[in-house]
Amino acid sequence: MFLVITNIKGLLISGAEKPLRKKEMSHAVWLEDAWLRVMFGKITGFGKMNDFVADEDDEVIDAAGSFVLPCWCDSHTHLVFAAWREKEFEDRISGLTYEQIAARGGGILNSVQKLRKASSNELYDVAAERLDEMIRQGTGAVEIKSGYGLSLESELKMLRVIQTLKSRFPIPVKATFLGAHAIPEEFKKDRRKYIQLLKQEMIPAIAEEKLADFCDVFCEQNYFTKDETIEILDCAAHHGMKPKVHANQLSHSGGIEAGIQCKAISVDHLEYTSESDLKLLAKHDTIATLLPGAAYFLNLPLPPARKMIDAGAAVAVATDFNPGSSPTGNMNLMIFMLCIQYGLTPSEALHAATINGAFAMDIQKECGSIAIGKNASFIITKKMDSPAFIPYSMGSNPVEKIYINGKVY
Ligand code: NIG
Ligand code: FE
Repeated sequence: MFLVITNIKGLLISGAEKPLRKKEMSHAVWLEDAWLRVMFGKITGFGKMNDFVADEDDEVIDAAGSFVLPCWCDSHTHLVFAAWREKEFEDRISGLTYEQIAARGGGILNSVQKLRKASSNELYDVAAERLDEMIRQGTGAVEIKSGYGLSLESELKMLRVIQTLKSRFPIPVKATFLGAHAIPEEFKKDRRKYIQLLKQEMIPAIAEEKLADFCDVFCEQNYFTKDETIEILDCAAHHGMKPKVHANQLSHSGGIEAGIQCKAISVDHLEYTSESDLKLLAKHDTIATLLPGAAYFLNLPLPPARKMIDAGAAVAVATDFNPGSSPTGNMNLMIFMLCIQYGLTPSEALHAATINGAFAMDIQKECGSIAIGKNASFIITKKMDSPAFIPYSMGSNPVEKIYINGKVY
């Protein structure tokens, strides 16, 4: 019950009441030779070893040679899906694009077909296995989207599976309704009808059952326009779901503008970000979430991440775990890519993956940094010389032990 971690080589204590921006991102504060105390699942104190006083009731864990940092906050995943799509991966290697595969019924609609046929139990089992592996790799909070159902019945099925994950796993799980992920086959000839269904039936039913914290839209050519995005998100906001946007992944879709206009909690992807988008991101609270897994997997141009931070955007990183464009839930790999491909420093990448990710899920009061009163959910790393070893080791698992609410997972 009373736990104290001692002899910590470096304890990451940066983090704030607000998302980190600009120089705050690169200024990681490591308390050297530190201790960390936990009671009833919460962080109750930390300090330097030279002023450490042991308590009789303490269970003491010696972390000599290890760093301790908050768990990763993965704010964008689609980890409830029925089947992998490695056939499409082969098709892309043979020369087809993601868009071409989608146009012939692959892509999101392929996952929709399979999800509609799967039972809730089957979906739960595969999703739980994925989530379990993510936690073992350091993730201590996750957002999960629907969006492979695209009918009232199948979206409800997906969101209820997410609810069950929420109730059975010890980490915060946030649910996002992504009914506007694609126009389903049966509405191909009448997209307005599908948008009406989203607004008039799906959003109200999901709100009634309190199944979603957020609502997201794939704002992209051949998916949903900027105006449709705003229309759907406004409706969802009236029903208590905070907006998020899949923005500017494959083209300059207006998704960032739409997100800012709707006061979205985050806009995600952002491969096509203009100078005026940068100014918007710098001025507003909306988190700019990078998804390097998807950009890498689809060979997309990289978003201007360096410019985003320098302009003052609040940048986070997430896995986008999904079977079509990022078949991994490994945040360590994302942090590596932020550094080597996007030019962020290790400190910037760690902050993007922790406190700024927490803001992108509205859980900054419980997660994302080592602070008194927050959940005692943290990573004790393997022995290493410096924290830069985490991104340097290219997606290897840095976790020696992971604690969730003060208990070893
Ligand atoms: O975030 N961009 C849209 N949605 C997912 C891909 C989903 C899929 O291909 O199944 C993404 O990349
Ligand atoms: Fe996504």
